[in-house]
Amino acid sequence: MSETTFAKGLEGVIADESKVCYIDGDKGLLSYRGYEISDLAKNSNFGETAWLLLFGRLPKQSELDEFNKRLVAGRKLPAPIVDALKALPKDTHPMVALQTGVAIHGGINPVDGGPGEENVNRAVEMIAIFPSIVAAWARIREGKDVVEARDDLGHGQNFLYMLNNEVPDEEVGHIFDVCLILHMEHSFNASTFAGRVVASTLAPLDAALAAAVGALYGPLHGGANEGVLDMLEDVPSAEEAPAWLDAALERKERIMGMGHRVYRAKDPRSIVLEDYLKRLSEKQGDSFNYDRLKAIEKRMAEVMEAKGKPIYPNVDFFSGSLYRLLGIDVAEFTSIFAIARVVGWVSHIVEQWEDNRIFRPKALYNGNHELSWKPMDERS
Ligand code: SDX
Repeated sequence: MSETTFAKGLEGVIADESKVCYIDGDKGLLSYRGYEISDLAKNSNFGETAWLLLFGRLPKQSELDEFNKRLVAGRKLPAPIVDALKALPKDTHPMVALQTGVAIHGGINPVDGGPGEENVNRAVEMIAIFPSIVAAWARIREGKDVVEARDDLGHGQNFLYMLNNEVPDEEVGHIFDVCLILHMEHSFNASTFAGRVVASTLAPLDAALAAAVGALYGPLHGGANEGVLDMLEDVPSAEEAPAWLDAALERKERIMGMGHRVYRAKDPRSIVLEDYLKRLSEKQGDSFNYDRLKAIEKRMAEVMEAKGKPIYPNVDFFSGSLYRLLGIDVAEFTSIFAIARVVGWVSHIVEQWEDNRIFRPKALYNGNHELSWKPMDERS
């Protein structure tokens, strides 16, 4: 096996082949199983896009109806998960609560890791149950009763219903469904790669998903949309945004929602999210976040282009402000990312098991050699 060069963070390293998603970072293109994200965002829905990612083609009506029925049937939370969530300290972060629920689910009717229909069925179960775990914790954390899932609402709509105990209006439900589609999948990002690494050891699907949740929790990955809203707290107005940004960059701060390991153009997902945020901001007469975000984006482009290092908005830059206008609390932002991304995670794990080889990269050792043990009184 030839020696490969060292690339910190595996930047630019091809770790495996995949048919699930294609990204052209230079052109800012993203497609799921060959379908452009803007096409799916405009025409598809949660169930259809989830089926596409998991099975590799668009479903027939009968296949989609059957899949949606299974998603509805899988919404009910097993008692051990509810009991465990109720035992958590109330200030537990929603991503820790989600990871707890997923790990406990792994102990209920466990299925060994590996290829085959049993794990495809488990994958559908996990897509169905993630929203229920997230919504249940959001309620328990605030001392409210858990809201039972309804079987007459769509995937995204039912999640918002379980979260707020009221059925969202048609437009909010549709916009949220599009947000879930946009966040479903993104090739070998850190959390998907974490899931594939754990799956490559033939650990159970639930264990691989608990690892993926852990990776997404990080502020450099899934936690960034929460970070963007925190950042906006310090930006008094659109007019003062450029000065704020210059000072932040001076302090070598990372601007949340900006930059990407792969995209060298504006993240195509952020373009769709920005359009929804603009429209909803105008409709609700509240463009405070939108105006400041656009002022930050403009100044970032000027400054970074001048440095020869253009940096663009990524998926997290507009999403948090859009969720706010949809009535979603900032605490749920990262776990909402997870209830969408679980579709990409399970699609990749199923693909991993179809042609598996355990991940085991090398380390470039730069430590000591040939030392001899010394008794305590001879150590400096
Ligand atoms: C997601 O991988 C995926 O696909 C992830 C994701 C998905 O769908 O799964 O797309 C979702 O995680 C989006 C990213 C969310 N994270 C953030 O918004 C956090 C802020 N962004 C950065 O931390 C950063 O841009 C990363 C982590 C996203 C990418 O980091 P890289 O590729 O390792 O870039 P880098 O650290 O090598 O930076 C290159 C240069 C550096 O300058 P120099 O040190 O060379 O002078 O660009 C600068 C960085 O300082 N830079 C930034 C910046 N991002 C890069 N400077 C200020 N603010 C930023 N956000």
